[in-house]
Amino acid sequence: MPKGSPLPKHVAIIMDGNGRWAKSRGLPRVMGHQAGIQSVRTAVETAREMGIQVLTLYAFSIENWKRSRLEVATLMNLLDEYLSKELPTLLKNQVGLSVIGRIEGLPAKIQRHLKEVIAKTRPGAKMILNLALNYGGRAEILDAVRAIGEEVAGGTLNAGAIDETVISRHLYTRGLPDPDLLIRTSGELRVSNFLLWQISYTELYITPTLWPDFKREHFVDALLEFQRRERRFGAEGT
Ligand code: IPE
Ligand code: IPE
Ligand code: MG
Repeated sequence: MPKGSPLPKHVAIIMDGNGRWAKSRGLPRVMGHQAGIQSVRTAVETAREMGIQVLTLYAFSIENWKRSRLEVATLMNLLDEYLSKELPTLLKNQVGLSVIGRIEGLPAKIQRHLKEVIAKTRPGAKMILNLALNYGGRAEILDAVRAIGEEVAGGTLNAGAIDETVISRHLYTRGLPDPDLLIRTSGELRVSNFLLWQISYTELYITPTLWPDFKREHFVDALLEFQRRERRFGAEGT
Protein backbone atom coordinates (compact mmCIF):
# COMPACT_ATOMS: atom_id res chain seq x y z
CA MET A 1 0.00 0.00 0.00
CA PRO A 2 1.39 3.47 -0.86
CA LYS A 3 2.09 5.46 2.29
CA GLY A 4 0.48 8.80 2.95
CA SER A 5 -2.95 8.47 1.43
CA PRO A 6 -5.41 7.07 3.91
CA LEU A 7 -7.22 3.79 3.46
CA PRO A 8 -11.00 3.81 3.64
CA LYS A 9 -12.43 3.36 7.14
CA HIS A 10 -15.62 1.87 5.77
CA VAL A 11 -15.85 -0.19 2.59
CA ALA A 12 -19.23 -1.31 1.25
CA ILE A 13 -19.55 -3.98 -1.44
CA ILE A 14 -22.41 -4.87 -3.78
CA MET A 15 -21.52 -8.51 -4.32
CA ASP A 16 -22.98 -9.05 -7.77
CA GLY A 17 -22.49 -11.58 -10.56
CA ASN A 18 -22.91 -14.98 -8.89
CA GLY A 19 -25.59 -16.00 -11.39
CA ARG A 20 -23.53 -14.97 -14.40
CA TRP A 21 -20.48 -16.75 -13.01
CA ALA A 22 -22.48 -19.99 -12.80
CA LYS A 23 -24.12 -19.49 -16.19
CA SER A 24 -20.77 -19.01 -17.91
CA ARG A 25 -19.77 -22.44 -16.60
CA GLY A 26 -23.06 -24.12 -17.49
CA LEU A 27 -23.87 -24.52 -13.78
CA PRO A 28 -27.10 -23.75 -11.91
CA ARG A 29 -27.27 -20.25 -10.36
CA VAL A 30 -27.14 -21.65 -6.84
CA MET A 31 -23.61 -22.92 -7.52
CA GLY A 32 -22.61 -19.32 -8.17
CA HIS A 33 -23.83 -18.33 -4.73
CA GLN A 34 -21.92 -21.21 -3.20
CA ALA A 35 -18.76 -20.09 -5.00
CA GLY A 36 -19.39 -16.52 -3.82
CA ILE A 37 -19.02 -17.56 -0.18
CA GLN A 38 -15.29 -18.05 -0.63
CA SER A 39 -15.03 -14.47 -1.91
CA VAL A 40 -16.87 -13.31 1.22
CA ARG A 41 -14.26 -15.08 3.38
CA THR A 42 -11.42 -13.55 1.40
CA ALA A 43 -12.93 -10.05 1.52
CA VAL A 44 -13.40 -10.22 5.31
CA GLU A 45 -9.88 -11.52 5.82
CA THR A 46 -8.35 -8.88 3.52
CA ALA A 47 -10.30 -6.02 5.08
CA ARG A 48 -9.21 -7.10 8.55
CA GLU A 49 -5.60 -7.41 7.45
CA MET A 50 -5.69 -3.92 5.91
CA GLY A 51 -7.05 -2.38 9.08
CA ILE A 52 -10.40 -1.39 7.61
CA GLN A 53 -12.88 -0.64 10.42
CA VAL A 54 -16.17 -1.52 8.78
CA LEU A 55 -16.94 -3.84 5.88
CA THR A 56 -20.56 -3.75 4.73
CA LEU A 57 -21.66 -6.51 2.37
CA TYR A 58 -24.92 -6.38 0.43
CA ALA A 59 -26.04 -9.98 0.81
CA PHE A 60 -29.80 -9.87 0.26
CA SER A 61 -31.95 -6.96 -0.88
CA ILE A 62 -35.64 -6.42 -0.21
CA GLU A 63 -36.11 -6.81 -3.96
CA ASN A 64 -34.34 -10.19 -3.98
CA TRP A 65 -37.55 -11.82 -2.66
CA LYS A 66 -38.68 -11.59 -6.31
CA ARG A 67 -36.35 -14.51 -7.10
CA SER A 68 -37.44 -18.14 -7.24
CA ARG A 69 -38.22 -19.97 -3.98
CA LEU A 70 -35.29 -22.27 -4.59
CA GLU A 71 -32.86 -19.40 -5.01
CA VAL A 72 -34.14 -17.55 -1.93
CA ALA A 73 -33.97 -20.76 0.13
CA THR A 74 -30.44 -21.41 -1.09
CA LEU A 75 -29.32 -17.91 -0.11
CA MET A 76 -30.85 -18.28 3.38
CA ASN A 77 -29.25 -21.71 3.84
CA LEU A 78 -25.88 -20.40 2.74
CA LEU A 79 -26.16 -17.55 5.23
CA ASP A 80 -27.01 -19.97 8.02
CA GLU A 81 -24.12 -22.22 7.07
CA TYR A 82 -21.73 -19.28 6.81
CA LEU A 83 -22.65 -18.12 10.33
CA SER A 84 -21.97 -21.58 11.77
CA LYS A 85 -18.75 -22.23 9.88
CA GLU A 86 -17.27 -18.75 10.26
CA LEU A 87 -17.90 -18.20 13.95
CA PRO A 88 -14.49 -19.54 15.10
CA THR A 89 -12.65 -17.52 12.43
CA LEU A 90 -14.56 -14.34 13.27
CA LEU A 91 -13.69 -14.81 16.94
CA LYS A 92 -10.05 -15.58 16.17
CA ASN A 93 -9.70 -12.51 13.94
CA GLN A 94 -11.71 -10.28 16.28
CA VAL A 95 -14.33 -9.51 13.65
CA GLY A 96 -17.69 -8.52 15.11
CA LEU A 97 -20.91 -9.16 13.24
CA SER A 98 -23.52 -6.49 12.71
CA VAL A 99 -26.61 -6.41 10.48
CA ILE A 100 -28.65 -3.79 8.66
CA GLY A 101 -32.04 -4.23 7.01
CA ARG A 102 -35.51 -5.37 8.03
CA ILE A 103 -34.16 -8.24 10.08
CA GLU A 104 -37.63 -9.01 11.47
CA GLY A 105 -38.61 -10.08 7.93
CA LEU A 106 -36.03 -12.90 7.84
CA PRO A 107 -36.83 -16.52 8.82
CA ALA A 108 -36.96 -16.90 12.65
CA LYS A 109 -34.12 -19.42 12.64
CA ILE A 110 -31.82 -16.99 10.83
CA GLN A 111 -32.78 -14.17 13.19
CA ARG A 112 -31.84 -16.31 16.21
CA HIS A 113 -28.57 -17.33 14.61
CA LEU A 114 -27.67 -13.74 13.76
CA LYS A 115 -28.40 -12.62 17.34
CA GLU A 116 -26.22 -15.38 18.72
CA VAL A 117 -23.25 -14.62 16.47
CA ILE A 118 -23.58 -10.87 17.10
CA ALA A 119 -23.60 -11.41 20.88
CA LYS A 120 -20.56 -13.68 20.72
CA THR A 121 -18.43 -11.68 18.31
CA ARG A 122 -19.07 -8.04 19.18
CA PRO A 123 -17.20 -7.75 22.50
CA GLY A 124 -13.63 -6.70 21.79
CA ALA A 125 -14.11 -6.65 18.00
CA LYS A 126 -11.46 -4.80 15.97
CA MET A 127 -13.50 -4.74 12.77
CA ILE A 128 -17.23 -4.75 12.05
CA LEU A 129 -18.58 -7.09 9.41
CA ASN A 130 -21.90 -5.50 8.61
CA LEU A 131 -24.28 -7.69 6.58
CA ALA A 132 -27.10 -6.02 4.66
CA LEU A 133 -29.97 -8.51 4.80
CA ASN A 134 -33.52 -7.87 3.60
CA TYR A 135 -32.08 -4.42 3.05
CA GLY A 136 -33.44 -1.57 0.95
CA GLY A 137 -32.17 1.99 1.03
CA ARG A 138 -35.63 3.51 0.61
CA ALA A 139 -37.11 1.19 3.24
CA GLU A 140 -34.34 2.31 5.60
CA ILE A 141 -35.16 5.99 5.03
CA LEU A 142 -38.87 5.23 5.39
CA ASP A 143 -38.30 3.43 8.70
CA ALA A 144 -36.21 6.37 9.93
CA VAL A 145 -38.91 8.90 8.93
CA ARG A 146 -41.56 6.85 10.78
CA ALA A 147 -39.44 6.61 13.93
CA ILE A 148 -38.68 10.33 13.83
CA GLY A 149 -42.39 11.07 13.24
CA GLU A 150 -43.33 9.06 16.31
CA GLU A 151 -40.84 10.94 18.44
CA VAL A 152 -42.22 14.26 17.23
CA ALA A 153 -45.80 13.09 17.85
CA GLY A 154 -44.80 11.85 21.31
CA GLY A 155 -43.26 15.20 22.15
CA THR A 156 -39.71 13.91 22.69
CA LEU A 157 -38.37 15.58 19.54
CA ASN A 158 -38.97 19.02 18.12
CA ALA A 159 -39.64 19.04 14.35
CA GLY A 160 -37.34 22.07 14.06
CA ALA A 161 -34.51 20.09 15.63
CA ILE A 162 -34.47 17.47 12.85
CA ASP A 163 -31.16 17.78 11.05
CA GLU A 164 -28.88 15.43 9.10
CA THR A 165 -27.40 14.03 12.31
CA VAL A 166 -30.87 13.15 13.60
CA ILE A 167 -31.66 11.35 10.35
CA SER A 168 -28.34 9.46 10.39
CA ARG A 169 -29.01 8.40 13.98
CA HIS A 170 -32.31 6.81 12.95
CA LEU A 171 -30.89 4.77 10.09
CA TYR A 172 -29.91 1.10 10.47
CA THR A 173 -26.29 2.27 10.16
CA ARG A 174 -26.46 4.47 13.26
CA GLY A 175 -23.08 4.71 14.91
CA LEU A 176 -21.16 3.67 11.79
CA PRO A 177 -19.22 6.10 9.60
CA ASP A 178 -20.53 6.57 6.05
CA PRO A 179 -18.76 4.35 3.50
CA ASP A 180 -15.64 5.92 1.97
CA LEU A 181 -15.56 3.39 -0.84
CA LEU A 182 -18.35 1.46 -2.57
CA ILE A 183 -17.31 -1.48 -4.72
CA ARG A 184 -19.68 -3.16 -7.15
CA THR A 185 -18.61 -6.32 -8.93
CA SER A 186 -19.79 -7.58 -12.33
CA GLY A 187 -20.05 -4.22 -14.02
CA GLU A 188 -23.59 -2.92 -13.52
CA LEU A 189 -23.62 0.87 -13.33
CA ARG A 190 -26.29 1.25 -10.66
CA VAL A 191 -26.65 1.31 -6.88
CA SER A 192 -29.66 -1.04 -6.66
CA ASN A 193 -31.21 0.62 -3.59
CA PHE A 194 -28.05 0.31 -1.47
CA LEU A 195 -27.19 2.83 1.27
CA LEU A 196 -28.87 5.72 -0.54
CA TRP A 197 -28.42 8.25 2.26
CA GLN A 198 -24.93 7.15 3.28
CA ILE A 199 -23.20 7.20 -0.12
CA SER A 200 -23.63 10.92 -0.82
CA TYR A 201 -19.83 11.42 -1.02
CA THR A 202 -18.65 7.83 -1.28
CA GLU A 203 -16.06 6.97 -3.95
CA LEU A 204 -17.47 4.45 -6.44
CA TYR A 205 -15.45 1.57 -7.84
CA ILE A 206 -17.11 -0.70 -10.37
CA THR A 207 -15.25 -3.69 -11.70
CA PRO A 208 -16.31 -6.19 -14.39
CA THR A 209 -14.94 -9.02 -12.23
CA LEU A 210 -17.77 -11.33 -11.14
CA TRP A 211 -18.15 -11.76 -7.36
CA PRO A 212 -16.93 -15.39 -7.19
CA ASP A 213 -13.76 -14.27 -9.04
CA PHE A 214 -13.17 -11.27 -6.76
CA LYS A 215 -10.07 -12.24 -4.77
CA ARG A 216 -7.54 -10.53 -2.53
CA GLU A 217 -5.69 -8.86 -5.42
CA HIS A 218 -8.91 -7.39 -6.79
CA PHE A 219 -9.75 -5.94 -3.39
CA VAL A 220 -6.24 -4.52 -3.06
CA ASP A 221 -6.58 -2.95 -6.55
CA ALA A 222 -9.76 -1.21 -5.42
CA LEU A 223 -8.02 0.12 -2.30
CA LEU A 224 -5.06 1.37 -4.38
CA GLU A 225 -7.47 3.12 -6.74
CA PHE A 226 -9.19 4.71 -3.73
CA GLN A 227 -5.86 6.06 -2.53
CA ARG A 228 -5.35 7.76 -5.90
CA ARG A 229 -8.71 9.55 -5.76
CA GLU A 230 -8.95 13.17 -4.73
CA ARG A 231 -11.95 13.58 -2.46
CA ARG A 232 -13.31 17.12 -2.55
CA PHE A 233 -16.66 17.06 -0.75
CA GLY A 234 -17.69 20.01 -2.88
CA ALA A 235 -14.65 22.15 -2.15
CA GLU A 236 -12.19 23.39 -4.81
CA GLY A 237 -9.52 20.96 -6.03
CA THR A 238 -5.88 21.10 -5.03
C1 IPE B 1 -25.39 -11.52 -6.42
O1 IPE B 1 -25.35 -12.26 -7.56
C2 IPE B 1 -25.95 -12.26 -5.24
C3 IPE B 1 -27.22 -11.73 -4.74
C4 IPE B 1 -27.95 -10.80 -5.29
C5 IPE B 1 -27.72 -12.33 -3.52
P1 IPE B 1 -26.60 -12.37 -8.54
O2 IPE B 1 -27.40 -13.55 -8.14
O3 IPE B 1 -27.33 -11.09 -8.59
O4 IPE B 1 -25.86 -12.65 -9.91
P2 IPE B 1 -26.26 -12.12 -11.35
O5 IPE B 1 -26.41 -10.63 -11.27
O6 IPE B 1 -27.56 -12.78 -11.70
O7 IPE B 1 -25.13 -12.53 -12.22
C1 IPE C 1 -27.86 -6.17 -5.69
O1 IPE C 1 -27.73 -7.07 -6.74
C2 IPE C 1 -28.26 -6.89 -4.44
C3 IPE C 1 -27.22 -7.71 -3.82
C4 IPE C 1 -25.99 -7.81 -4.24
C5 IPE C 1 -27.62 -8.42 -2.64
P1 IPE C 1 -28.93 -7.43 -7.70
O2 IPE C 1 -28.41 -8.42 -8.67
O3 IPE C 1 -30.12 -7.84 -6.91
O4 IPE C 1 -29.25 -6.03 -8.40
P2 IPE C 1 -29.94 -5.70 -9.78
O5 IPE C 1 -31.25 -6.45 -9.81
O6 IPE C 1 -29.03 -6.16 -10.86
O7 IPE C 1 -30.09 -4.21 -9.79
MG1 MG D 1 -27.26 -9.48 -9.82
